[in-house]
Amino acid sequence: MKDNQSPKPIYLKDYRPPAYWIDQTRLHFKLFDDYTLVQSVLTIRANPEENPNHDMPLTLDGGEALELKSIKVDSVELTADDYLLENEKLIIKQCAEQFQLEITTLIKPQLNTRLEGLYKSKGMFCTQCEAEGFRHITYYLDRPDVMSRFTTIVEADKARYPVLLSNGNPVAQGEAEAGRHWVQWQDPHKKPCYLFALVAGDLACVADTFTTRSGREVDLKFYVEEQDQDKCGYAISALKNAMVWDEEVYGREYDLDIYMIVAVSHFNMGAMENKGLNIFNTSCVLAHPETTTDAGFQRVEGVIAHEYFHNWSGNRVTCRDWFQLSLKEGFTVFRDEEFSSDMGSRTVKRIEDVNYLRTHQFAEDSGPMAHPIRPASYIEMNNFYTTTVYQKGAEVVRMIHTLAGPEGFRKGCDLYFERHDGQAVTTDDFIKAMEDANALDLSQFKYWYQQAGTPVLNIRDEYDATKAEYSIHIQQTCPPTPGQEKKKPFYLPCKLGLLNKQGEALKLELVNGKAISDNREEAVVVISEASQSFTFKNISSKPVPSLLRGFSAPVKTFIDYSKSDLALLMKADSDGFNRWNAGQELALQCLKEQMQNAEKGAALNLDAELLKGFTALLEDDALDPAMVAKMLSLPAEALIIEQTALADVDIIHSVRDFIQSELAKQLQPLFHQVYLRNHQQGVYLPDAKNIGQRALKNAALTYLGFLGTEDQGRSASLAYEQFSNAGNMTDQSAALRILVHNNASQADDALNSFYKQWQHESLVVDIWLGIQASSPVKNALDKVKQLMEGPPFELSNPNKVRALIGQFCMQNLVNFHDLSGEGYLFLSEQLIKLDAINPQIAARLAGPLTQWRSFNKVRQTLMLAELKKLQGQATLSPDVFEVVSKSLA
Ligand code: TRP
Ligand code: ZN
Repeated sequence: MKDNQSPKPIYLKDYRPPAYWIDQTRLHFKLFDDYTLVQSVLTIRANPEENPNHDMPLTLDGGEALELKSIKVDSVELTADDYLLENEKLIIKQCAEQFQLEITTLIKPQLNTRLEGLYKSKGMFCTQCEAEGFRHITYYLDRPDVMSRFTTIVEADKARYPVLLSNGNPVAQGEAEAGRHWVQWQDPHKKPCYLFALVAGDLACVADTFTTRSGREVDLKFYVEEQDQDKCGYAISALKNAMVWDEEVYGREYDLDIYMIVAVSHFNMGAMENKGLNIFNTSCVLAHPETTTDAGFQRVEGVIAHEYFHNWSGNRVTCRDWFQLSLKEGFTVFRDEEFSSDMGSRTVKRIEDVNYLRTHQFAEDSGPMAHPIRPASYIEMNNFYTTTVYQKGAEVVRMIHTLAGPEGFRKGCDLYFERHDGQAVTTDDFIKAMEDANALDLSQFKYWYQQAGTPVLNIRDEYDATKAEYSIHIQQTCPPTPGQEKKKPFYLPCKLGLLNKQGEALKLELVNGKAISDNREEAVVVISEASQSFTFKNISSKPVPSLLRGFSAPVKTFIDYSKSDLALLMKADSDGFNRWNAGQELALQCLKEQMQNAEKGAALNLDAELLKGFTALLEDDALDPAMVAKMLSLPAEALIIEQTALADVDIIHSVRDFIQSELAKQLQPLFHQVYLRNHQQGVYLPDAKNIGQRALKNAALTYLGFLGTEDQGRSASLAYEQFSNAGNMTDQSAALRILVHNNASQADDALNSFYKQWQHESLVVDIWLGIQASSPVKNALDKVKQLMEGPPFELSNPNKVRALIGQFCMQNLVNFHDLSGEGYLFLSEQLIKLDAINPQIAARLAGPLTQWRSFNKVRQTLMLAELKKLQGQATLSPDVFEVVSKSLA
């Protein structure tokens, strides 16, 4: 791509309020097979604060595929001199203070493979307007601070599109000529156009009702394909739980008489919170025990809640501009995480969320795409729906919750919603509400919104026996990130406790520093300086500190724990998260030691402390199975890579493999007992207790799978038996994965019968593809290429792309990073094809290449070659251009 054609960044500092407001938006869609006509009637008014003399031009956003059919101002057709069409903008040079603008555009949704704007998924029409999709439907002020009242008429063939939906309430309907019909929808709430939605299709409706706390009855309607009607029950109950939860925890009620959810097969993300008409990826709404894993059920619960919670945190109070995305996403992720914690096991949920953050967000934050949760610039907004904005954003909100306390946080939220209802606001407005409601000073805390990078706490402790005082010394730093060499110290809460060598909690009496809360055995202190100490008195022997309990801040901590310290914390810490964390630290220490041995060519060995810890976990049947399952999982390869400079993937893989195989060998009878103890045959329930038992059982089976032929194939037979007899997808797919990933003799047989059984269940086929794509066996890439050849693979369906290409590049690190470079070459070839179809998905899929600096030299060279090949493409979307050019900068 030539430099003068390179897309240019947009900067937060350039933000200006709009020159015009759109008070009313009336839309009429005429859907046909070959084209769609969109008639829009906009009631426009100059913004008196920005454009008092209404002498500024009106500049509307459009897209390259828009065909302008007609344009009228106050019913008079404009001539070519009255307006300008350039760079996808429609500019009207002279405007009155108030006027009515009528525009007709022609679009071709059936050719829209980008899945943004209006497009077709299977036979149905649907929309995705966030972030900037609405401009591909009609010319508009496509920015979130322009909020308008929408009325929409959808018109289509009645037989093929019996269901016609848009936001708000249905207010009229009728027949039209040639077997067509129409429905008119009216949304009483003003909203930015990114929340607009339209659906037309032949869909079944599964209905229910919910009565709000104040007694209003709301119709809940789930629109799905005929054969999926039996897969809505779980999402419906999750939705009702979420509605009750938001009333109880935040005092927020739903505000329309109808709440609709539509399931579509082709979708770029998980789901979209369009006002009153959420559109969901089928994978995030459909659930049935026979076709959905436990992880799938939990994802459905979380995403259903997430989109519902957006009704307040996102829709009623929205973002001023896209730099503020974390205002709604970070906050809403925090809300859905807390909801899921309340529905299931809080500690397990926290472990999962932190593990995800450390593996993915920490990697992003140390790579070329690192950005603050409120970015200062972007080239393509779609690239900023990141784990930083979402998950780190949620951690930042969580820290405010910790600093303000639950009641203070609720007061701050009440003030925020009350003060800003119906407005488009900024993260500063959110912080201000929190400060005003709590007499908090968050000025230093705000660096979390401005500075990228994961802060590092280097911690040293010191015990003074004569004074009976114990001190913790903390050095805070943050590595440079693109455009930010030096960082100011962050302000963060550290929740901590001290244990004596017997594992008992010690009474905490701070000599210096301030605790913002303490219950004697646990305190929350604030870290705000580059270098800081906390001293505790009346400590009669050197304790083991338990720091950052519950992961109270998104930072990396380094402290010299001995293996026995970690074993103590693993067993005795009152904080469940830190018990798990100590186990992970211990495992990491052992992994790193063996990695050093492997590099030297020395023999590998299994650490005695680790073996002891695992033995204790397996022997104690009083422990929570879900927690044991989590503690039995070694840190993932991706997490080890994130923590290792110039990582050697082969060594990481083989050392991890070695430790798991050794544990399996030495603890085989225990793993077997744990398997049998947790193998229930009763009715499938996706609740915390049953999910925990299945997780532990399948973790045990996974370890047994490492035995390969060493136990005469007995463990493979056990897996095959589970595969054949499973009554639910969790057990069936776990067993299939074990057979395939260990290259068991039954693997092909199992893959074939699985496909035969489930070929008509698209989401199960995704599981089948994913298991093969993530397999560490040698020929995995050939298998992936072969699977791409024919149905069921579809390059135009993001779920299929993620299941096959995504799983290979992100979950199959030994094969993707193979020293032949074949994996990298494969990815860049797919990216080039995909970029022409769906740039948003292509840019996301390029993620693994951006991490090139994390790997050893040989791999760096190979990865760079592919990035440069991409950079040299004659045509590249702004999406992929941004990722590639920043990676090479
Ligand atoms: N707002 C959506 C959510 O987090 C995100 C989303 C859905 C999205 N589809 C998208 C973002 C397409 C960008 C493009 O719930
Ligand atoms: Zn969201």
